Formats: sequence, C-alpha cells, structure tokens
Amino acid sequence: MEKVLSGIRPTGYLHLGNYFGAVKNFLALQDNHECFFFVANLHALTTHPDPLSLSSSVKSVLAEYLACGLDPEKSTIYIQSDVPEISELYTLLNSLAYKGELEKCTSFKEKIRKHEENINAGLLTYPVLMAADILIHRAHKVPVGKDQEQHLEMTRNFAVRFNHRYGVDFFPEPQAFNFSQQLVKVPGLDGSGKMGKSEAEGNALFLRESNESIINKIKKAKTAPSPTEPNSVKPIEIENLFMLMGLVSSKETIQYFEDKYNDCSIQYGPLKMQLAEDIVKFALPIKEKIVDLEKNTDLLGKIAKLGAEKARESANETIKGVKNLMGLKSIWL
Ligand code: TYM
Repeated sequence: MEKVLSGIRPTGYLHLGNYFGAVKNFLALQDNHECFFFVANLHALTTHPDPLSLSSSVKSVLAEYLACGLDPEKSTIYIQSDVPEISELYTLLNSLAYKGELEKCTSFKEKIRKHEENINAGLLTYPVLMAADILIHRAHKVPVGKDQEQHLEMTRNFAVRFNHRYGVDFFPEPQAFNFSQQLVKVPGLDGSGKMGKSEAEGNALFLRESNESIINKIKKAKTAPSPTEPNSVKPIEIENLFMLMGLVSSKETIQYFEDKYNDCSIQYGPLKMQLAEDIVKFALPIKEKIVDLEKNTDLLGKIAKLGAEKARESANETIKGVKNLMGLKSIWL
C-alpha cells in the first residue's frame, strides 16, 4: 500500500489555506493509504516561539486535525518531537545537503528577507528536516499546498543522492500531491499573495473564527472597480474572491456571479455576503468540534501517545536500514 505523509506547523490556528491546500486531501487519502499526519513542532522552532504558546498550539492543531475528520483508527497521528528518530535521520541527511542548494531555496530567501535579525542554521536546513519527516516513513505521496513544491523537489534530490551514494533503492521519490492534479494556493483577503498565518491582520480566515469575524473580514476584503466591458479579465482581487467561492459555494452560486460579472451588472456587496455565508456554513461544524475536542485533554493525550508509538515503530525500521547502509551499525552493542 502506498504511504502518505504530511504535517502542519503549530504556529497558529488552521486557516482555509491549510484546509483546502492540505487537510482536505489528508481526509480523502486516509481510507485507502497508509497515512502519517503530524504536528511539525520542531519546524516551528526557527522563529523562537514562546515555549508555553508552542505547546498550547500543538494541542490546538491536534484538536483541529481531529475536528476536520482525521481518524486515529485509520491514520497515524503524532507530534513530531515525540519521534526522536526524525531528528536522528535529520542529522544523518545533513551531510548530503549542500550549502549552495539550501541557500537557493525560496522559503529560506523569503525568511531571511523578512527576519534579518534571526537567520539561524535551523532556517537554512529546514528542507533537510522536512526531508527527514518524509523519508523516515519512506512515504510516496505528500499532500501539501503549492508553497511546499520546492521542498518536495529537494526531498527527492536528497533521496536520490542517498540511494546513489549507497548503491541501493532504499528511499522512494516522494511526490507532492493534490486530488485535483494541481497543487492549490488559496489566496488571502488582502489582495496580495497566499492566505497565511503570519500575513497581515485580516488576510486569513481561520477554521475556528466566529461568524461575525468571518463576515467582517470578507466585507473588508480588497476589491477593484466593477467591469465596464462585457467578459473582461478579472483583476486579481476579484479573481481571489471567485477562487474562495470555488472552494465553498455551489456551482449554481458561482455561475450566477460569473454571469453578473460578465454582463457588467455585478455588485461586490452581495457577492461578499454570499461568500461569507458559504464560508460560515462550511466552518461551523468544524468549529463546534474543535471547541469540544480542545476540552478533552485526556483523549488528545491518548491519541498522541498511540500515534507516537506507531510512528516510532515505522521510523525505527528506516533508521536501522539507513545506519546499516551508512556503516553506522554498532559493532559493540
Ligand atoms: P505550513 O504549516 O506552513 O502549512 C501547512 C500546510 O498548509 C498548506 N498551505 C496552503 N495551501 C494552499 N494555500 C495556502 N494559502 C496555504 N497556506 C498553507 C501548506 O502548503 C502545507 O501543506 N513545511 C511545512 C510543514 C511540514 C511538512 C513536512 C509538510 C514540515 N514537514 C513534511 C509535508 C511533509 C509548512 O511549513 O507548512
């Protein structure tokens, strides 16, 4: 059976970008694949989070995973730092990763541009840790959003390099995955790039956001002048609103507003109200479950413990194989 793996950093609450870029695919894959889904708390360390808020964020992402429908009976769900084999593989892979390729990585360049004061080694080797996450279970498919495409390419490079160096076919070449064939980039509400946890206030819509807040953010979302020529190309801000509709609204609703846009009779107020209503309807059942699950610390603890045990079993097999191949099998123990 093909193996699937993915993770999300506990750097804040999950938003619609995380859901439609990643989690939605996790749900569809867990019925017929061997799945591993984890909370990537080691990856969060690069930005020096406050320890208390990091551990509370781990709990909230775990609750959010379950509220979205991840099922511990079908998938192995764990916290990254509970599986020390990942850090071991990270160490072992580090010497296969070259400074030049790590420095060229887009996410590294973006991070150092934004945080000149905190250019640490963890940021530079972030793609190696991510490769360790994936290769530790020898996963084939990695459901992620478009922003992770380059990290997957680097993971494949490290896997191929390892296989080549040790003359074996040990690691598969993992592929970024989305059911719609294309990786998704959910736009933010401020008319700029993608929806993100650390973008400006009002850019992201969180799964647990109150109905009023969803409506207010959508009301404030950037628009552009209405079209004056039939069938004109949509400006990016309007394209973004239609893209969000594509995720949560019915085909008929989308067609209705497409037609209005194309005959120049569109009013953005009603479009935004409809979009807000459809997002509220989509998020409500998930939000209710998040609230319940977060209170159930015992259940969260049991799931994390079971997940760590299962993940460590699989991880151990890989580590053993890697150490044997690298000449690190102990001769004394
Ligand atoms: P992170 O925590 O930034 O995001 C988690 C997942 O959500 C997707 N995503 C989006 N997809 C579409 N549109 C958006 N606006 C959007 N914003 C976020 C991301 O693509 C991702 O799939 N490095 C990863 C976490 C990670 C990981 C891994 C993922 C660590 N190890 C191993 C896969 C496999 C990250 O920072 O994702």
